[in-house]
Amino acid sequence: MKFHIVTYGCQMNERDSDAIAALLERHGHESAQGEADAELLLINTCSVRAKAEHKALGKLGLTTAAKQTRTSLRLVGAIGCMVERLGPRLFDKLPRLDFAVGARRLASLPFVVERALAGPDPILAVGVNPAETGNMAEMAGHAETGVSAYVNVLYGCDRGCSYCIVPAVRGPEVSRPARDILAEARELAARGVREITMLGQSVMAYGRAQAVWESNDRSPRGFAEPFPRLLEAAADIEGLWRLRFASGHPSGCTPELARAMGSIPAVCRHLHLPLQSGSDRILKLMRRGYDIGVYRQAVERLREAVPDIAITTDIIVGFPSETDAEFEATRAFMEEIGFDNAFIFKYSPRPGTPAAGWPDDVAAEEKLRRNKILLQDQQRRTLAGSERLVGQTIEILAEGVSARNAERWCGRTSGNRIVVFEPDSAVRKGDLIRVRIVRAMPQSLLGEMVGIVRAGPRQPDAEGKRNSE
Ligand code: 5AD
Ligand code: SF4
Repeated sequence: MKFHIVTYGCQMNERDSDAIAALLERHGHESAQGEADAELLLINTCSVRAKAEHKALGKLGLTTAAKQTRTSLRLVGAIGCMVERLGPRLFDKLPRLDFAVGARRLASLPFVVERALAGPDPILAVGVNPAETGNMAEMAGHAETGVSAYVNVLYGCDRGCSYCIVPAVRGPEVSRPARDILAEARELAARGVREITMLGQSVMAYGRAQAVWESNDRSPRGFAEPFPRLLEAAADIEGLWRLRFASGHPSGCTPELARAMGSIPAVCRHLHLPLQSGSDRILKLMRRGYDIGVYRQAVERLREAVPDIAITTDIIVGFPSETDAEFEATRAFMEEIGFDNAFIFKYSPRPGTPAAGWPDDVAAEEKLRRNKILLQDQQRRTLAGSERLVGQTIEILAEGVSARNAERWCGRTSGNRIVVFEPDSAVRKGDLIRVRIVRAMPQSLLGEMVGIVRAGPRQPDAEGKRNSE
């Protein structure tokens, strides 16, 4: 069947959608040109805030209704985080929905599709897959590979932040064996991928709850902790030029992690380190496990090892009982750290989380006001950071045609800033190039090509071997 996947939510969901596409292809289905010619339509949902759920529910409402008029559309399924959260209630809201598969049961999708084709009853698959490890292996494929790819290193989360739905929908923390991750990374590199982003809710906790390495020996560069060891081993894979990882937590910013970031050239000089609040009282209520002093130390340690490291963050405004003074503390701390970028969210109570039991007592208009102020502050800071790069010659990975302007290409700096540039005739996707930054724009930089540093794959053959380099 021709399938199409619409994806909401975070990088994990994007990765899941890609893995599912590969899984469905292995079971004889094929990717549709687009949503309009799909026979099987999957909506990958997010539960992180009420708004994310409304969006997915709205889309599901429209697409299940479209089944009546568009006869080629045979099945509509909901998948992902919201399915785990709502379970059977999803079918009350969406009577024409054919099936729903939760974030931890995605490997069973091909069988659910088969059953859905065989009979009219709605099918629900949620909860833990009894064959958890088999599940992970099924989800290791990649349908589309471009210049960059995501690789899961850690599923679920054990942290238990009081506002967060993730542990409820994605389950406890499970780290993948290093051998499997590295095999996946090697295969991607052979297919021409130059940059990998390692994903986990709390990625530096990799290997803390499970043994992931076959021996406890120190690595060649003397790392003992599982995550720095993983970075080192991945950096040694031929053809992999850049490594990123997300998301971070201050407790993971150990001396070894700082040393790995500073000493392994492939590791990008960027860390997404969600702060959430700059008030110690709110951080405690959020059960984040650090105060601003600890956060500050983590940043100092990273900056000592990687002086120009870019640090980005997430902030929640309007958490229960957050006062104006506490909001101002967040504002001041953001300025102190000088974040390169920040995502600002209005607090949204998630049923079943501890914070949902507390009064959501910051008025909607006040949340909006706080959100706007932080956004404005950050836009100014982001632009000032970009302006400091004007005149510098910087290395970027050429990703291809820019989404906004077909004449131009785009790429990212090691610090994760987007650069748009006019390509010369020699440049190819996946080349590492030098650009001179000529202008700073609100969300990106304008650069002029200086030259190619390392040429990417030119003509990958069927085996994925490269004939360049
Ligand atoms: N309300 C608002 N924002 C939330 N986030 C997580 N849970 C909530 C919630 N209940 C934000 C956090 C997290 C990001 C992915 O989403 O800032 O880092
Ligand atoms: Fe990602 Fe969390 Fe949304 Fe799930 S609920 S898609 S893990 S942001």
